[in-house]
Amino acid sequence: MQIPVIEKIHRLKDLGKAVILAHNYQPAEIQDIADFVGDSLGLSIEAARTDAEVIVFCGVHFMAETAAILSPQKTVLLPEKEAGCPMADMISAQQLLELKAQHPNALVVSYVNTTAEVKALSDYCCTSGNAVELVGTLDPDEEIIFVPDQYLGQHVIDKTGRDMILWPGYCPSHVIITAEDIDKARREHPDASVMAHPECTGRVRACADEILSTSGMLRFAKQSEKKKFIVATETGIIYTLKKQNPDKEFYSASDNAICPNMKKITLEKIVWSLEDMQYKITVPDDIRKKAKAALDRMLAVMPGK
Ligand code: 13P
Ligand code: SF4
Repeated sequence: MQIPVIEKIHRLKDLGKAVILAHNYQPAEIQDIADFVGDSLGLSIEAARTDAEVIVFCGVHFMAETAAILSPQKTVLLPEKEAGCPMADMISAQQLLELKAQHPNALVVSYVNTTAEVKALSDYCCTSGNAVELVGTLDPDEEIIFVPDQYLGQHVIDKTGRDMILWPGYCPSHVIITAEDIDKARREHPDASVMAHPECTGRVRACADEILSTSGMLRFAKQSEKKKFIVATETGIIYTLKKQNPDKEFYSASDNAICPNMKKITLEKIVWSLEDMQYKITVPDDIRKKAKAALDRMLAVMPGK
């Protein structure tokens, strides 16, 4: 008799002393079998905290890499090796070196959506949830390079009043959401609150009531007195929002806001990942130490945010 796939995952997980972490954008069935569902930072912190020997990371490459940077003694597995992040690939270490050479005194703040090599060349990492606060703690006289997301960077500039040198990167799954999509959704649901991710364009952010990271959206929806929400981010989070707030209604600002890489993870691939211990994500020690220093500086300024 064939063992159902979910039972198989649980058996293999117990056998291999593994934990399954899933990002808020993962498909519903993956979120349901995960031990922990969260945003990029929450998942990394959980990865560092767990005493499991093996971490199956259901997300994209830079997230699994961040877990490997923080927990080098653990085995970090990405069930689909092609699950990358196009935004993270929009700046290479060489390009950052060239930018740094043009601004030799600037501090480098890199969004966690970057490769380990780019993190290793950075002074601080940040996430969408703590970028504004982190930049706010930096010396006002310091010049700042912010990579790779121009929209998150512009949001930080708007909120802090700090000028920054921005890299022209972007998330294809967020820039597809338009201000017209928000207008249309508002007309359909006039009493709803609009939550937008800071990776959205300036025009979309300008139409939003709240600009929040994925965890920020989950917190806000739970605490808000509002009953209806228009959600301008990757559509996967709608499942989490509905699950956590069964009495509230959530509408995606655009059904096109899908991250194809996040959807590459399947239950079957998790089984193969646990059976064959693949695909192991590792970071060379010299790069890992420097990248960890940038992540540690972020965690020291704002632990757990
Ligand atoms: P957060 O979950 O940190 O808000 O990030 C969104 C994202 O696009 C991750 O790739
Ligand atoms: Fe990268 Fe955008 Fe996908 Fe996040 S949603 S993993 S930023 S492509």
